[in-house]
Amino acid sequence: MDSSDFSAFLASRSSVRDFDGAPVNEEDIRYILSCAKTAPSAGNLEAWDVVIVHDEETKSLLAEAAFGQGHIERAPVIFAVCSNYVRSMSRYGERGILYGLEDATIACTYLMLAAHARNLRSCWTGAFNDEDVREILMLPQHIRPISLLAVGRGSLPAQHPLRMDIGEHVHHETW
Ligand SMILES: Cc1cc2nc3c(=O)[nH]c(=O)nc-3n(C[C@H](O)[C@H](O)[C@H](O)COP(=O)(O)O)c2cc1C
Repeated sequence: MDSSDFSAFLASRSSVRDFDGAPVNEEDIRYILSCAKTAPSAGNLEAWDVVIVHDEETKSLLAEAAFGQGHIERAPVIFAVCSNYVRSMSRYGERGILYGLEDATIACTYLMLAAHARNLRSCWTGAFNDEDVREILMLPQHIRPISLLAVGRGSLPAQHPLRMDIGEHVHHETW
């Protein structure tokens, strides 16, 4: 892949919330996880974990926890990506909270892009009640859910959402 292929790959991804009901197979899931394994992490501690959810009832509960977002129920699989604070804080103390959030966010980005590489669609979902998700997925206290990544098959939208001009983000030398 050259750099223009890489740009085209990134530009072709969009969030998809309508899934066509086709399943995501085990090979796809193994591929997506193997990509996430390559993600960088603070001190290489990999302070992230993921709960893979296929169960219809659990997805329905997660959709409720995500304030009724229907794509959580419609997706054949949800990757509930979590930060593992014990892993990062055991070495980095308070700073490990930030590193744990960053590790999980990067891992989720890799999962999302790996799904796209597999011609699967996804929607990163961050709006949910943490405590409800914790209870539904039986997460221990040191595990914080970061994202419910809904993955399935479907059509990409005809138009991608507009972005800010890159100049609005970039500062040179100092702010
Ligand atoms: C941290 C984060 C939280 C998000 N939460 C939600 C969400 O709760 N529900 C949703 O439908 N989309 C959610 N999204 C998806 C964004 O709406 C989407 O990425 C953004 O509008 C840009 O569109 P694109 O992904 O198609 O490029 C979230 C994305 C991120 C990165």
